[in-house]
Amino acid sequence: MVAEIGATDGRGFMMAPSFIFVTCQVGSERAVKVEIARRWPKFRFAYSRPGFLTFKLPEKIQYAEDFDLESVFARAYAFSLGKVQGADPAGMARQAWAMLEGRAVRRIHVWPRDAAVAGHRGYQPGLTPEAFEVHRLLCETQPPDVHLPSGAAEMRNPARRGELIFDCVLVDREEWWLGFHKAAGPVTRWPGGMLPLELPAEAVSRAWLKMEEALRWSELPISPGARVAEIGSAPGGASQALLARGYDVLGIDPAAMHPAVSAHPHFTHLRRRSTQVRRREFRKIRWLTADMNVAPNYTLQAVEAIVTHPEVNVRGLLLTLKLTDWNLADQVPEYLDRVRGWGYNRVRARQLQHHRQEICIAAWQSPFRRKSRHGS
Ligand SMILES: C[S@@+](CC[C@H](N)C(=O)[O-])C[C@H]1O[C@@H](n2cnc3c(N)ncnc32)[C@H](O)[C@@H]1O
Repeated sequence: MVAEIGATDGRGFMMAPSFIFVTCQVGSERAVKVEIARRWPKFRFAYSRPGFLTFKLPEKIQYAEDFDLESVFARAYAFSLGKVQGADPAGMARQAWAMLEGRAVRRIHVWPRDAAVAGHRGYQPGLTPEAFEVHRLLCETQPPDVHLPSGAAEMRNPARRGELIFDCVLVDREEWWLGFHKAAGPVTRWPGGMLPLELPAEAVSRAWLKMEEALRWSELPISPGARVAEIGSAPGGASQALLARGYDVLGIDPAAMHPAVSAHPHFTHLRRRSTQVRRREFRKIRWLTADMNVAPNYTLQAVEAIVTHPEVNVRGLLLTLKLTDWNLADQVPEYLDRVRGWGYNRVRARQLQHHRQEICIAAWQSPFRRKSRHGS
């Protein structure tokens, strides 16, 4: 959206920023560049480190503070104010405030660039103690005319929609990049687009985290008691996240479910491949999720065969696509077109914080249009 950002707030003129910065998974940088070149051809790639990129914005175009980058692989982004460097964190914090030029921020987000490839030796992207420490320093050094809620707690709560956020990315211990954005959708309200999720002790696989994050990001309008099918359900962490929300889950997988999941009264297991399941088993299913360890075209083909069947009425989807090869990232727009072609008018995709080399597609119909009178 084009709008005015180089405006005054009564305290003088603020320069419109010339750059935007992006944080992403280590390994996704090329995918970010390709999709920005496609969607925003006037942006010019400027600088990158693993998991961190900057782009020069075109001159004479001004973007709204809640500008939507529409990127699948950017986990977070902000208008850049530049960087501060040094070995004195308190001094860096004071310099950071000076760069804001009096913008009326209501909250501070601090997060690190990813330290390694997600999953490498168990690495999980997320907020670090150092991020909380820098957040505390920025709170302590805020100028007298800025009245922010203090304490690290605000990093553990989502920003309110419309709040202007002061962003600080710890690119290195002695190099922080500062920026700002306005909170809008669910992920722009969390520091670095990362939700504070912790794997529950009873979760039988880390797929719980992926499903929980996918449900919160997508905000799919699934009502309690809904019937959800999950293709690739074993051992069952994702099913646990669905069951905990009160859904009835049909798990489809030739592999065994964890006994804690198969014993749940609202869980049914079809111990087969999706292609071996009769279509009538899906008649009462309104939501379909898939997380198979196969190439994207296989997943899309398996889901297409179900949702396009005349007697099946699936309102929405949550699909994990494994990018078995990084070059498949270039085909994401075609994957989304294919899903739209099945009749879904709301389609979005994102590489989630808890993903490895994979993305999630959320798709649904609004309003819901049934093809047939079958099913309830
Ligand atoms: C990443 S695991 C799924 C993790 C699971 N969602 C959880 O919450 O624990 C991938 C699963 O896909 C299953 N799978 C692969 N091809 C399949 C197919 N054609 N139909 C059903 N399941 C399939 C595998 O057996 C495997 O259990």
